[in-house]
Amino acid sequence: MAKLLTVFGATGVQGGSVIRAVLADPALSKSFKIRAVTRDASKAAAKELVEKGVELVSADMGSPSSLADAVNGTDTLFLVTLPDFVTGLAPGTEFEHGKNVADVARDAGVQHLVFSSLINVTDASNGRLPHVAHFDRKADIEKYIRSQDIQATFIQPGYYMTNFTNLQLLRKGDDGSYTLAGPTHGSKAQLPLFYPDSDMGKYFVAVARNPSQTMGKQIHAAADYYTPARVMAEFQEVTGKKAQYVQLDHDVYKSFIPPPIAQELLENELLCEDPGFFAGGSLSEGHRLLAEAGLAPTTWKEFLESQREAFA
Ligand SMILES: NC(=O)c1ccc[n+]([C@@H]2O[C@H](COP(=O)([O-])OP(=O)(O)OC[C@H]3O[C@@H](n4cnc5c(N)ncnc54)[C@H](OP(=O)(O)O)[C@@H]3O)[C@@H](O)[C@H]2O)c1
Repeated sequence: MAKLLTVFGATGVQGGSVIRAVLADPALSKSFKIRAVTRDASKAAAKELVEKGVELVSADMGSPSSLADAVNGTDTLFLVTLPDFVTGLAPGTEFEHGKNVADVARDAGVQHLVFSSLINVTDASNGRLPHVAHFDRKADIEKYIRSQDIQATFIQPGYYMTNFTNLQLLRKGDDGSYTLAGPTHGSKAQLPLFYPDSDMGKYFVAVARNPSQTMGKQIHAAADYYTPARVMAEFQEVTGKKAQYVQLDHDVYKSFIPPPIAQELLENELLCEDPGFFAGGSLSEGHRLLAEAGLAPTTWKEFLESQREAFA
């Protein structure tokens, strides 16, 4: 009998990627039935999932009573939570959401929880970068899951390649050249670039095909570590447009960001210089798991080639 995979964030980037990858995988598409969780079953992304044969359930991570039915009968669960600065909810809500789902997963006897986690930046930087709450709260959720003795794998997604396009970080000048500006040194920061739309699903497939090998582990998910200088050099190579990286003073960088999140996002960037987005963690185990599943991460050049029209 097929096992039940329940996916949180199913209408979003990471959860949507997981569902597409499982449906496309010859083995997992047979071994799993998929249940998607949303707060709004009437939205277009939710209806598209139904058209693909996915079961849809309504639940809210902020409402424990709504979660029990959503998770009931689940064998494998994918969980992604959202930063408080994104939801606009009270500080600490991201942790509460993760804890609420972990609690019902434990009570429902979920056999494998795959959590989209990140490192604790305050700890990894010895207190030098204490404001990257959206990393620290995910690390707190991971710690909580481990304390509950839930069988789990922690996929840590790297720096989204789509940040550069969705947030329009690559600025076109009057002369047609492109500039990326950031607070880190162009050849010292190391960005572990990750294409979430397709690659969260790949990493999930690699983990779900081989749960016993990945239980309890942190998998750092990214194609490679890229300096900002390499980001722009490869941009120039693929698009044929002149491109440069410019390092900004911290206060100038913050002046471009809404004040309530400026310090958090500044420290998020500084993290990439020291102690590192994954605190120096290697990407090789994730690449090995992908290769075993016949998969490979999307490189920055491949991503740019798929976006070439945007920079024509
Ligand atoms: N940007 C980066 O470089 C980067 C790097 C690493 C990690 N991350 C992390 O990635 C995460 C974002 O993931 P994403 O890109 O997949 O986000 P997304 O596309 O915005 O999707 C968010 C999903 O969460 C669901 N959701 C939101 N609140 C919910 C609630 N209260 N109860 C149930 N479901 C809820 C939404 O579903 P409905 O609206 O349908 O309910 C939606 O499917 C963030 O935590 C961020 O910190 C980002």
